[in-house]
Amino acid sequence: MTLKLNDKYIKPFVEDSELEQLQSEINAAHASLLAKNGEGKDFLGWITLPDDYDKEEFARIKKAASKIQKSCDVFIAIGIGGSYLGSRAVIEFLKSPMYNNIKKDTPDVYFSGCNISAQAMNELLAICEGKDVCINVISKSGTTTEPAIAFRVFRELLEKKYGKEGAKERIFVTTDKAKGTLKKFADETGYETFVVPDNVGGRFSVLTAVGLLPIAVAGIDIDMLMKGASDAAKAYTATADITKNDCMKYVALRNIMYRHNKAMEILVSYEPYATMFNEWWKQLYGESEGKDGKGLFPASVIFSTDLHSLGQFIQEGSRSMFETIVSVVDENEKLAVPYDEANIDTLNFLAGVDMNDINKMAMKGTILAHVDGGAPNILIELAKRDEYSLGHLIYFFEFACGVSGYVLGINPFNQPGVEAYKKNMFALLGKPGYEAQKKELEERLK
Ligand code: PA5
Repeated sequence: MTLKLNDKYIKPFVEDSELEQLQSEINAAHASLLAKNGEGKDFLGWITLPDDYDKEEFARIKKAASKIQKSCDVFIAIGIGGSYLGSRAVIEFLKSPMYNNIKKDTPDVYFSGCNISAQAMNELLAICEGKDVCINVISKSGTTTEPAIAFRVFRELLEKKYGKEGAKERIFVTTDKAKGTLKKFADETGYETFVVPDNVGGRFSVLTAVGLLPIAVAGIDIDMLMKGASDAAKAYTATADITKNDCMKYVALRNIMYRHNKAMEILVSYEPYATMFNEWWKQLYGESEGKDGKGLFPASVIFSTDLHSLGQFIQEGSRSMFETIVSVVDENEKLAVPYDEANIDTLNFLAGVDMNDINKMAMKGTILAHVDGGAPNILIELAKRDEYSLGHLIYFFEFACGVSGYVLGINPFNQPGVEAYKKNMFALLGKPGYEAQKKELEERLK
């Protein structure tokens, strides 16, 4: 089985009657999502995406990826939020968080336009010196400030280095199929474009061109990623029964925790390669659920690293949280602990033991300790660390997010709260049309 949810370590915190109650709510939410008659119903394209995608564009993504691989040393994906987290998560999960430092025959991949840091931009510009560079600007709206600034910077770099014509061969644009200034500019200039489907929101877009082009550039098999997601879609849409559907069981358990005032969910991994996957998950759940004064706060940790920081809080701090662990059953990499004649650290009892086995014992010991401390644990076991399994995991969390949002009684597919900071920032920067707001904000900042 590709993915298995183990509820043994949360069961002591859950009554059977609560599961029964949640089952009827999940039935309604699951049915509404599939019938596309709930809130945000215009943004449900991701549900059928693993099978129902543009095959011609998919072939073009592979062709562009191979062209990029041949023509550059450095590939920069420019985007923010849902327009960058998915691809970065997949690349780091399947390759390495140190992807750019490993021996490979694919370009280094960098991400830009996901902050407003001059320091980060200057560092990346320095990295580009003397290197062949391609960029992929990714923005559904085409108007987001952070990627727009980065696009200006790297377009200028490419045009200076290769001329306007040469730059055209190195700039790839992923945006709305028809709307927006970016699409218009790309068409007029002659850049190759890829589509963010109308009915797929940013944080659900990793399996569209948004995620797939950078992922393919990194040499990852996007067919298998889609296949994993497709098989997950079949499994999780087929029934809402939590005894037969681990995705729905996850929805039930996290909503029960929420009702127990455990309103913080911590996604746990014991592998640093999952750091950005955790970030992707945090955006998916944070932006989808955190509204109308409701929602579980999504946090994340990498153990055993964070057992030496947040571990103390999880063990003994305010009892406001539960953990969801994603654990790969059969890790690809192995390494045995060396024997040391002097045995100064007294660890010779571990000599010859694979580090994965030690890591698994750390996990088991931690689960039991945290459960004893009053932090329930959901354990999600993923068979392997490969494209197929990761595609499955991505769909598992996306589908759970949609159903869970409906159970919470919010629209999981909008993000009205994201606009507040933008309006203030534009006003303070003196954007035309924001004059009155600027004065008021400056008063408050005095
Ligand atoms: O999930 C979302 O919708 C957001 O995180 C967006 O992806 C993010 O704000 C970037 O938007 P855009 O792709 O329009 O630049």
